[in-house]
Amino acid sequence: ERSYDASMSIPKAELHLHIEGTLEPELAFELAARNGVALPYADTGELRAAYLFEDLQSFLDLYYGLMAVLRTEEDFEDLAEAYLARAAAQGVRHAEIFFDPQAHLARGVGIGTVVEGLGRALDRSESAHGISTGLIMCFLRDESAESAMSTLEAARPYLDRIVGVGLDSAEVGNPPAGFREVYEAAAALGLRRVAHAGEEGPPEYITEALDVLGVERVDHGLRCMEDPELVARLVRDRVPLTLCPLSNVRLRAVDALEEHPLPAMLDAGLLCTVNSDDPAYFGGYAGDNFRAVRQALGLSPERLRDLARNSFVASFLEHDEERRAR
Ligand code: HPA
Ligand code: ZN
Repeated sequence: ERSYDASMSIPKAELHLHIEGTLEPELAFELAARNGVALPYADTGELRAAYLFEDLQSFLDLYYGLMAVLRTEEDFEDLAEAYLARAAAQGVRHAEIFFDPQAHLARGVGIGTVVEGLGRALDRSESAHGISTGLIMCFLRDESAESAMSTLEAARPYLDRIVGVGLDSAEVGNPPAGFREVYEAAAALGLRRVAHAGEEGPPEYITEALDVLGVERVDHGLRCMEDPELVARLVRDRVPLTLCPLSNVRLRAVDALEEHPLPAMLDAGLLCTVNSDDPAYFGGYAGDNFRAVRQALGLSPERLRDLARNSFVASFLEHDEERRAR
């Protein structure tokens, strides 16, 4: 039986995408050669074969390690350009893109190099790929709050390019509350606020991200399903969740895609979106994630359309109705 599958073509916004997680093995080797960086893998096949993750941390170790090849503005431009071309081919029309400045600063690459480099590709994205873009600067939650604050300070000259702040990296043991001050400072600068919560960490981290950090959107948020009161709150307040189904399988947040709670979350009335997280590592871009959940979970065309619509509703794009109401 064959039916038309709109997974790729349906216009969608991508709201949970780490630009460093779009580094495909081929580009990694190209940049390694260009910059004289030695990689501990013989070839792209050997690198790809290393993508067998036990959990979030085993992924993060590889993810941070491979960033060694990213050194110049041109490297970040090439990285973003490759992502935007792939995303366009999968129906992405708007992308809110995470980056990890602290991971680059730790290697002597300043935030200006990262933002200006990414910006070169983002500046021509609408005309070249039909994708509008925003950048979200993430703080590493396994680094100190002081480090996050000085990163926000370092970003001051580039705030015209940055729409918001996020919180990522190793979740368990690094609850949101420690970042209260830096989120307050970010809000005072007019930045939007999101945070990873409830990927590996407990539902309490989601509540804390809402109450203490004032986030408008929760990245992952998967484990909210363990707390019915939290689910009721997220539904009532229309708090969007940026789910990443293929990531959840690869990082073992769910046992199998067929067991992903997405259908139950939609049934509960949660404002769910489907995203790719780190597509070079987890086996697919935005459209691939739509297709995978459609097939594994038997989502109807209406549900697919709802997910696509949710992605724009949950975005930081100015919505016409809201603008009119103001
Ligand atoms: N979770 C936490 N940190 C991350 C992720 C993720 O899925 N991807 C890149 N950094
Ligand atoms: Zn993520």
